[in-house]
Amino acid sequence: MIGGRRAVCRGACGFMDGVHGSAVLRAAGRCLLPLVIPASCVLWVLFFFPSPPLEVAVRRESFQPSVTLPVLVQRVVDMTPPPPERGEIIDASPPPPSPSPPPPETARHARAESPPPPTTRQERPARAAATDRCAGRYIYIHKLPSRFNSDLLRDCRSLSEWTDMCRHVANSGIGPRLTRTGGVLPATGWYDTNQFTLEIIFHARMKRYGCLTADVSRAAAVYVPYYAGLDVGRYLWGFSNGVRDALAEDLAEWLRSTPAWAAHGGRDHFLVGGRIAWDFRREDSGEGSQWGSRLLLLPEASNMTALVIEASPWHAATDVGVPYPTYFHPWRAADVSAWQRGLRRTRRPWLFAFAGGGRGNNVQHGGGVVRDRIITQCARSRRCGLLRCGARGQRDGCYDPGNVMRLFKSAAFCLQPRGDSYTRRSAFDAILAGCVPVFFHPGSAYTQYRWHLPRDHSTYSLFVSEDGVRNGTVRLEDVLRRFSAGKVAAMREQVIRMIPAVVYRDPRAPSSSGAFRDAVDVSVDGVIERVRRIKQGRSPGGDDDGGEHRWDGYFDKQ
Ligand SMILES: *[C@@H]1O[C@H](CO)[C@@H](O)[C@H](O)[C@H]1NC(C)=O
Ligand SMILES: *[C@@H]1O[C@H](CO)[C@@H](O)[C@H](O)[C@H]1NC(C)=O
Repeated sequence: MIGGRRAVCRGACGFMDGVHGSAVLRAAGRCLLPLVIPASCVLWVLFFFPSPPLEVAVRRESFQPSVTLPVLVQRVVDMTPPPPERGEIIDASPPPPSPSPPPPETARHARAESPPPPTTRQERPARAAATDRCAGRYIYIHKLPSRFNSDLLRDCRSLSEWTDMCRHVANSGIGPRLTRTGGVLPATGWYDTNQFTLEIIFHARMKRYGCLTADVSRAAAVYVPYYAGLDVGRYLWGFSNGVRDALAEDLAEWLRSTPAWAAHGGRDHFLVGGRIAWDFRREDSGEGSQWGSRLLLLPEASNMTALVIEASPWHAATDVGVPYPTYFHPWRAADVSAWQRGLRRTRRPWLFAFAGGGRGNNVQHGGGVVRDRIITQCARSRRCGLLRCGARGQRDGCYDPGNVMRLFKSAAFCLQPRGDSYTRRSAFDAILAGCVPVFFHPGSAYTQYRWHLPRDHSTYSLFVSEDGVRNGTVRLEDVLRRFSAGKVAAMREQVIRMIPAVVYRDPRAPSSSGAFRDAVDVSVDGVIERVRRIKQGRSPGGDDDGGEHRWDGYFDKQ
């Protein structure tokens, strides 16, 4: 399987697609010369996205309050019902299954155990294990030299050639607060968050973790606050392999020299990579420059657990998928409940929606064909809302959080085909909007986010095999309209209940009583359990391993 993967410039055009995962021109060819890549990306966009006439497209002007809004957008903002010819309203405002909205907890992750004690910044005094609420949950944070993390933020201008990352690293990585969303989003809790800043957010959250210890021998797991994705992100285009690997190799050497490493050979260590795993596994076989760094191929990193926004299906011993950061960073549980309540009431005139860019009919890339078919189906359906990304213009509507959330909040189903990698940030935007995600490949979510999404995928999402879309026998509108309003409402309720576990709480909020279990809390629990199994010499994945083999065929086919 590994040998079947092509060495292509994955991620090469990530800066052009605001909603797409790591956004990569997988089939765009090998990365031969530094200058060819940005240039070819521009050509790609000009060639493949010439804005064909669309029945419905939310235009970029639509989120400027001073501009006359297109009729459909106006309607969503005003919350008035659509005209009859747009089809019946899928969400006829059925009452939520439970009379009173549940507290913001996930259906699956609700725990009997009590939350960690209020903000324990230092190690608690030694006590009998029975009375220590942190027993078995202590985390030790490596005190890395600043070159592995904070120096990268200080030099934020070097993080991306195309995106002003200095804006996005602000506020502990959640970026600038959103102020002009045309009434789509609440005034607080929403930020212009870049999809590659998870390392900063996670680090800030861990500094406020309730059960830190300075004594590594008491730690259930060891956190390595290295900004792996920001590091390699600086050098993906036009640098030598040596430059891309330098800091990762430096880290490996530094870690190996510490007493904390020696105890378990690093197998109780974990790090966070805010990019797809592919960006950290450059295989140097074959000729020419290949993509990414070799971080996760280093023997030291192979012993650790890597939390990445897209795990490699072939490296379950190391990788675990964790949610992409979205735009919502609530401070306390009440902020989440308020948003959840609003979602239950919102009208959803569209049966389904898609936000993203096309890929062109490149025969080498099966996912791209499917994606383009899906865009065509959406564009031709009167019941599909389409937000087209990558169209020419100074500003891409897909970069506007209000625009994306407005569309997803007004649709019952949100299509999430893979693009150039398996996953997309857009899947989490859809969940955040209470829009039932439709996946076309198990690698887009089911095999990725096992800690954060319910095990029974059919309760919150729909799976449509790519084959039928590719060969034209599946018409999505026909598939989706068969669901009764009651069934859709039940799935939506499950999606809404998943929100707390997939959002990243505002890292500046204290981990005190008003807090809720967010994506970091779920991740840390997962790491602790995983390390416990590793120390016992058991399989790190636990019971999950068996059940997920049913998807293996989808990966073999690649
Ligand atoms: C990885 O873990 C194994 C088993 O604990 C150990 O023998 C090995 O030395 C570790 N590798 C490194 C690079 O420390
Ligand atoms: C299209 O794909 C579906 C799903 O794999 C399959 O059942 C069907 O036979 C295919 N039809 C054609 C005409 O290839």
